[in-house]
Amino acid sequence: GAAHDSRRHESAHKHVSGEAVYVDDIAEPAGLLHVYLGLSSRAHARIRSIDLSPVRRAPGVVAVFTADDVPGVNDIGCMGKHDEPLFASTLVEHVGQPVFAVAAETRDQARRAARLAVIEYEDLPAVLTIAAARDGAPDGAHTLVTAPMTLAVGDADAALAEAPHRIEGRLAIGGQEHFYLESQIAMAVPGEDGELLIHVSTQHPTEVQHIVAHVLDIPGAAVTVEVRRMGGGFGGKETQSNLFAACTALVASRTGRAAKLRPDRDDDFQITGKRHDFEIDYRVGFDDDGLIQGVGMLFAARAGYAADLSGPVTDRALFHADNGYFYPAARLQSLPLKTNTVSNTAFRGFGGPQGMVAAERLIDEIAFALGKDPLEIRKRNFYGTDPEADGRNLTPYHQTVTDNILPELVAQLEETSGYWQRREEIRAFNAGSRMLRKGLALTPVKFGISFTATHYNQAGALVHVYTDGSIQLNHGGTEMGQGLYTKVAQVVAEEFQVDISTIRPTATNTGKVPNTSATAASSGADLNGKAAQAAARTIRERLVAFAAEAWGVAPDAVRFERNRVWAGDREMSFADLVRAAYMARVQLSATGFYKTPKIHWDRAAGRGTPFYYFAYGAACAEVTVDTLTGEYVVDRVDILHDCGRSLNPAIDRGQIEGGFVQGMGWLTMEELWWDGQGRLRTHAPSTYKIPACSDRPRVFNVALLENAPNREDSIFRSKAVGEPPFMLGMSVFHALSDAVASVAGHRLCPRLDAPATPERVLACIAALRERE
Ligand code: MTE
Ligand code: MOS
Repeated sequence: GAAHDSRRHESAHKHVSGEAVYVDDIAEPAGLLHVYLGLSSRAHARIRSIDLSPVRRAPGVVAVFTADDVPGVNDIGCMGKHDEPLFASTLVEHVGQPVFAVAAETRDQARRAARLAVIEYEDLPAVLTIAAARDGAPDGAHTLVTAPMTLAVGDADAALAEAPHRIEGRLAIGGQEHFYLESQIAMAVPGEDGELLIHVSTQHPTEVQHIVAHVLDIPGAAVTVEVRRMGGGFGGKETQSNLFAACTALVASRTGRAAKLRPDRDDDFQITGKRHDFEIDYRVGFDDDGLIQGVGMLFAARAGYAADLSGPVTDRALFHADNGYFYPAARLQSLPLKTNTVSNTAFRGFGGPQGMVAAERLIDEIAFALGKDPLEIRKRNFYGTDPEADGRNLTPYHQTVTDNILPELVAQLEETSGYWQRREEIRAFNAGSRMLRKGLALTPVKFGISFTATHYNQAGALVHVYTDGSIQLNHGGTEMGQGLYTKVAQVVAEEFQVDISTIRPTATNTGKVPNTSATAASSGADLNGKAAQAAARTIRERLVAFAAEAWGVAPDAVRFERNRVWAGDREMSFADLVRAAYMARVQLSATGFYKTPKIHWDRAAGRGTPFYYFAYGAACAEVTVDTLTGEYVVDRVDILHDCGRSLNPAIDRGQIEGGFVQGMGWLTMEELWWDGQGRLRTHAPSTYKIPACSDRPRVFNVALLENAPNREDSIFRSKAVGEPPFMLGMSVFHALSDAVASVAGHRLCPRLDAPATPERVLACIAALRERE
């Protein structure tokens, strides 16, 4: 069957040939206007006056829009938060905040005109950093963009006080730009009676529909949002596309002409939110064997000027502050701090990665304090594998881990990567090398699967079988390169036992499947695969009932196999059965719906079962650091990752490799840098470095864990794979830390901050030599 097959991405050949149609490739309707945004140049200021007459007078300009021109509500806040104006009118809260939009005949004219506005500001004190946000106010009170969360299990203070060893410290982790290859873009096409069709690169068509309706004060039913594919999203198009869609919708509805907005890369960098940077204060208490007894952590995050998804992101940091480790007592708190910077948003892992890096820092601290290998401490602190017997399975959010496979997975990788032998070789190498130092680390991943906003865990699908036997498939998930359309097509092909070429996935469209959730939290295939399966099964059951009656056999004598159908002894093609069913007036179209069972979450109480299951993995990385310059290479990486019974091992391997490299980039080389006036100075590939081909591990061994079906009833027992491999990148960060530690004989924890750029590695080496 089609499920579990390694097949290429349904658009792979079109991606490489250039035939895949992205929003900017759609034929432009006659009279299309190009829109560009006028941006704030100040981090925090009152707007005294705005003179747009030079903009209006510029060549090609057709119209200019400000907050005053918004017919509905001047607000694009996501998930019902109303703290993000579409256009700033009296107050700007970050550099790059949109103040107005200009529509012109060409994109070049719109861009040039946007720069001509004369805006008078009265600067206000700007809070730019986490440190400033924490102790900015004289009374020490800080402003939060959304309610913080606390998770508590046991008595953390008592456990810390009683522990034989205690360590405390602080870890700083930088943010990350999504750097989707296709930048943000939207095109709105006006229709009859105020209706709008919006083509937009978004992970969340339904939210775009809501926002557009709300901004224009029209019913949701008048807005149709369509997305065939994105050139990458990575969380950066979950809410950040709302702005661009709303602007084009406003221009189209006010001018009656189609409108398109595509910021260039530098503007995209400055206008859109990123991964949150964090400062994490930690305390850990442990015994002589390195067994953790108590943990206290405070997660301060730079949220930017508005809430956006900072609530779910900082919550997920807490949910993953244990990574794979059992904390008998813990208190974990979040601090989503308001700053005068762009409002940060979702990014692969949603704060989970930041939580997990903190957990791994605790392990390193313990290992250095006791003079042990960090891998030993990791293994010792894993959750139990048997919740009945171990008593080591309760998470800080009071969900019991019932599917822990880390001990066996890590044991397997320890073996295949030759960890202990290479540990000895590296020790010998470092003993004989003055300038070059090697480091090795094997880090695990445990990632919770489900949206923590429980209502998001639902999906719909629509399947049409046509009389020639061909099948159209539509569902609420969006395609951003991750292979969702391929996987869901495999599910439908499996249900009908037809070739995958029979299935035609169609663009995600709010008019076909309504009220969808964002394609996020790695849940796309889990949710939409199940919904499409339900739709396909409804049609198949109708076909079975028809065939049983038509040919006088029992329903269980009707079989589907390799594009053919048997009704008892009678054999026909799938298409012939479909045609006969049509003639007998059998409905050949169906919707399907799915909601994840078992999960619930009480945020105020900090208790529940927020995750349906966990996805696991581990990576072992070896690096060589030049201690004179701080430069390094990644010599070798071995990965073993759990995809359950993979729906498509080829696509999953791509997700693992890509996720790993993106995670490694975040923790090593990608650095966002704002100046003292709140201007992002790394806003193009010239200054913001994402991993290139030359940065990949010299040896890169990737394997999927075999014989490990999901213990829950997920789609064909597969596991979500979109985000979890991102955190495998931690292995490189910890290998760097290990190499650095060798300059002080592994007696001190280097306390390396992220990103571990060569500069930071060098500074860490210097600091370590001084501390020694
Ligand atoms: N893979 C590609 N190629 N492009 C992307 O934008 N986004 C990631 C991941 N893998 C992404 C990707 C993120 S952040 C998520 S949440 C998942 O894909 C979403 O898709 P899924 O739920 O279908 O796995
Ligand atoms: Mo992914 S950050 O959940 O879009």
